[in-house]
Amino acid sequence: AIRGNFFDIAACVDEPQRLDAQLRHIPDGLLLLNEGTIVWHGSWRQGEALLPPGFAVTDYRDKLIVPGFVDSHIHYPQTEMIGAYGDQLLGWLKNYTFPTESRFACEKHAGEMSAFFLRQLLSNGTTTALVFGTVHPQSVDALFSQAAALNMRLIAGKVMMDRHAPPALLETPEQSYRQTRALIERWHGRQRLSYAITPRFAPTSTPALLAQVQRLREEFPDAYLHTHLSENPDEIAWVKALFPESRSYLDVYHRYGLTGGKSVFAHCLHLEEQEWDCLCRTRSSIAFCPTSNLFLGSGLFNLQKAWQKRVKLGIGTDVGAGTTFNMLQTLGEAYKVGQLQRYKLSACEAFYHATLGGARALALDDKIGNFTPGKEADFVVLDPAVSALQKLRHENSPALADQLFVLMTLGDDRNIYRTYVDGKVVYQAPAREEAA
Ligand code: GUN
Ligand code: FE
Repeated sequence: AIRGNFFDIAACVDEPQRLDAQLRHIPDGLLLLNEGTIVWHGSWRQGEALLPPGFAVTDYRDKLIVPGFVDSHIHYPQTEMIGAYGDQLLGWLKNYTFPTESRFACEKHAGEMSAFFLRQLLSNGTTTALVFGTVHPQSVDALFSQAAALNMRLIAGKVMMDRHAPPALLETPEQSYRQTRALIERWHGRQRLSYAITPRFAPTSTPALLAQVQRLREEFPDAYLHTHLSENPDEIAWVKALFPESRSYLDVYHRYGLTGGKSVFAHCLHLEEQEWDCLCRTRSSIAFCPTSNLFLGSGLFNLQKAWQKRVKLGIGTDVGAGTTFNMLQTLGEAYKVGQLQRYKLSACEAFYHATLGGARALALDDKIGNFTPGKEADFVVLDPAVSALQKLRHENSPALADQLFVLMTLGDDRNIYRTYVDGKVVYQAPAREEAA
């Protein structure tokens, strides 16, 4: 049993104005777990009687407990190249990304980087992620086997690509199909793992490759589809030149049946009206990746439009084009992206996108995203004030919405006190000297 100050959002909403009615803040609350499942959540006063005498209670009353963060788009092989300097998307891929991803042909390297990557997620309070591997099947085997050992809820897939990349990273459409199929059979639905069929993006896909992706979608309708869409103006122009028969960038994917309720499209910065409508109609989801969009100078995501068009949305760090694993920092950048377009992103809305909203974007809102009984026990214990500056700011405005906003503005990995996955502590902050 866990006692503490809990915050979550009770139900999914289709308009930001409806969020207020769904906020659940229980300053002295109780969370009862049975193994990895939440069995009861409410106030300590009501819940105390449910506890058998002498039952162990972990007390976090001076902390803030929120559902585990959901990172809806990230590349684990790009961990080691975070902050690669000086290019926009296409130059960045050629000069930094492809050489880095080539290293994952080595199984040992993939294993070491998987361990490092999962540790980064957990030490930043992220308990679920939708992850790109590399083209090498062993890259995903390494990641899945380590996530299985932690019993994490993780979705990942091997990249599929057959043109416009260095030869060492290319495959044939048939090989891509066979390897992906074997990985789906090995990992999809095992423990809490799911497989995402992962064509990198349209420019690295021939029509023959997309046809194999379609075939996999038909054979495995329950698997995810994960790719990039409409990130950079040069990329978009290139897609139009490569696929002149398509009406739009999204139409390239849509024609091959790649849209749908378990499809996640990263970025979506420069969509045409018909592309927004297609995402809505097909119940597809968007991953909004603010630090990546700013770092690569790709553009400003239109959050207001996503609400208006009722497209499901999650937040992605998009490491290594994104510059942090930390969801608090990512939300702070999302706020600034909003500011540049006169959209006011509240702390509650931001936390919604990072938890329950992200879970919904990944079709997991029946399993994770809040403390509703029956859901899986993945959550983060935040220390709301770890620095002198945070403490000062916090004392001046102790209300919950202010506290959350300060976490978004000044927060980072130091604010992650403990992370729980499947009801167990999987990360614990190092002991700290009194903050300077
Ligand atoms: N588009 C195609 N590949 C990538 C990638 O690795 N990162 C980003 N940000 N965009 C892409
Ligand atoms: Fe990406």
